[in-house]
Amino acid sequence: MIHLSIPDLRGNEWKYLKECLDTNWITSVGRFLDDFENSLASFVGAKYAVACASGTAAMHVALQMLGVQAGDQVIVPATTFIATVNVVLYCQATPVIVDVEDQTFNMDPARLAEAINDHTKVILPVHLYGQPCQMDKIMAIAESTSVCVLEDACESIGTRYKKKHTGTFGRISAFSFNGNKLVTCGGGGMIVTDDEELARQCRHLVTQARSDSLEYLHDALGYNYRLTNMQAAVGLAQMERLEQMIDRRRQIFSKYQQGLAELPGWRGPGYIHGAQSNFWLYTALVEPQEFGMTSRELMACLRERQIEARPIFAPVCENKHLSCVDGRERFPVAYKIWEQGIVLPSGAGLTDQQIDQVIDAVRCAASDS
Ligand SMILES: Cc1ncc(COP(=O)(O)O)c(C=O)c1O
Repeated sequence: MIHLSIPDLRGNEWKYLKECLDTNWITSVGRFLDDFENSLASFVGAKYAVACASGTAAMHVALQMLGVQAGDQVIVPATTFIATVNVVLYCQATPVIVDVEDQTFNMDPARLAEAINDHTKVILPVHLYGQPCQMDKIMAIAESTSVCVLEDACESIGTRYKKKHTGTFGRISAFSFNGNKLVTCGGGGMIVTDDEELARQCRHLVTQARSDSLEYLHDALGYNYRLTNMQAAVGLAQMERLEQMIDRRRQIFSKYQQGLAELPGWRGPGYIHGAQSNFWLYTALVEPQEFGMTSRELMACLRERQIEARPIFAPVCENKHLSCVDGRERFPVAYKIWEQGIVLPSGAGLTDQQIDQVIDAVRCAASDS
């Protein structure tokens, strides 16, 4: 089977993990945690990074630290992984969903501007599939309305917008290192900010808000959202090879573009001015009339040839706990992307031969239909 994005663990992962085991530093303190945090902060160009258990945990803590609570509104894009919206609900706040751009699948700044009101506490843009949002427009809206920005950079390590790394535009941001991400440590996340006090408070909250190093005393309702030294060991080894892994994904993207871009009804990833993608996953829209079949039919054809392909995230309002009656009218772009979208295998470990196999399978499906 050719999988979507299997981890590429060909660096120092084994060696660093062994060091954890050999030295007994396997839990929530250790040199790899410090080194992983420093490595990520310096790579993205931020002052502080706080490791935590997942991207979801990172966003939950970030929202709490921005003071989000019941009665507040947080603006989220209609197309994203569900965690972006769930964290708003964890804080008892209301997610306000806005439609996305057809080209990048990211929050549409025009729709964002319309959604801001006196209850808006945070804007939560997501750099989806490694494509940056139009952060100059989003930040201009945030600044003119004095609303904070939390960037969901879970999928965008290595992505820049106008030469600045994603996750460094807003007040605070979150990265994810779960199994299918460009940098993985099995599962994990990172909070990133330039604000020293905010970073300190986040670290406090992810470590049960313990207020005394000896006594078991806690000065707030905290969480056990810590990362382990073993996960950080894998994360650090991954960071060392990040540029190399991005380069390989860039090559895979250009092979797909060369092989597929000209197919009628096939629309590969679109880029906005100033975007520098991390090429995390290759996405395309399949226009059924022109291509000859729907995206779901194409996925089934690929599955028959042992190729894993996936849909784009469903509009968040399609989920039971968020459902709204008129989602299709309110978020037409998110629905189109959902219906037409397909994600192709993009892992850095794929061989050229495997990519050719995927291209061949898509071309065959198109010509047979
Ligand atoms: C856009 C987006 N936001 C949030 C998350 C949550 O990250 P995690 O799985 O590390 O909790 C993910 C990844 O799974 C994601 O893709």
